[in-house]
Amino acid sequence: MKKEFWLERWNRGETGFHQDEINPYLCQHWQTLHLAQNSLVFVPLCGKSRDMLWLREQGHRILGVELSQVAVQAFFKENGYSPHRASNGRFDHCEANGIRILCGDFFDLNKEDLANVGAVYDRASLIALPPEMRERYARHLVDILPSATQILLVTFDYPQAEMQGPPFSVTDSEVERLYSGYAEVRLVEQQDVLAKNPRFRERGLSSLQESLFLLTTR
Ligand SMILES: C[S@@+](CC[C@H](N)C(=O)[O-])C[C@H]1O[C@@H](n2cnc3c(N)ncnc32)[C@H](O)[C@@H]1O
Repeated sequence: MKKEFWLERWNRGETGFHQDEINPYLCQHWQTLHLAQNSLVFVPLCGKSRDMLWLREQGHRILGVELSQVAVQAFFKENGYSPHRASNGRFDHCEANGIRILCGDFFDLNKEDLANVGAVYDRASLIALPPEMRERYARHLVDILPSATQILLVTFDYPQAEMQGPPFSVTDSEVERLYSGYAEVRLVEQQDVLAKNPRFRERGLSSLQESLFLLTTR
């Protein structure tokens, strides 16, 4: 999937994946990570997710990465922040109130960038990527994280023949296959959320499972 695809979606305001409400799985299950308050939480492919605000309210510092400047500007503006801006060549940084978003390509991040990360909240990243990129994504994420990092992962699974992605369908067995070489993988909860997402029923889906996994890197 080309970067231009996502940049154009943001430019055109086609952001159906964005949720105004905080992800219910995040609220229900985050405390099971027992993460210290001031820890740094990495949010890959963060868009303008309001989940970052909720995580900040739990006392954590946030580090997001997102390709689109439009998304990054929207996040700070819509939430009433005037971010401090800087650039290191690879990424433009925007930061306010303990939330820093690096604007650029996730695949350009390195171990140093994530050296202080205590946990990861990952919603809708794998499902944004076509199958051939998901393997590269999972490997890169685990490569650059400190060992023994917990990752709360939210994915969707639906009959792939019924709709073209993104969002792509990611099955439980694919999550297991992608991560089990580098992490302990535990399926925490699964629900059919089609009724709450009428736009996917309109696109022809007969079921839509939202799954929550807790991964712990080795
Ligand atoms: C499906 S959206 C999910 C956004 C967010 N996680 C949420 O829950 O609202 C995927 C996001 O990933 C961003 N993205 C795609 N490829 C990326 C990459 N290589 N590096 C950084 N961001 C990327 C897109 O611009 C888009 O905002």
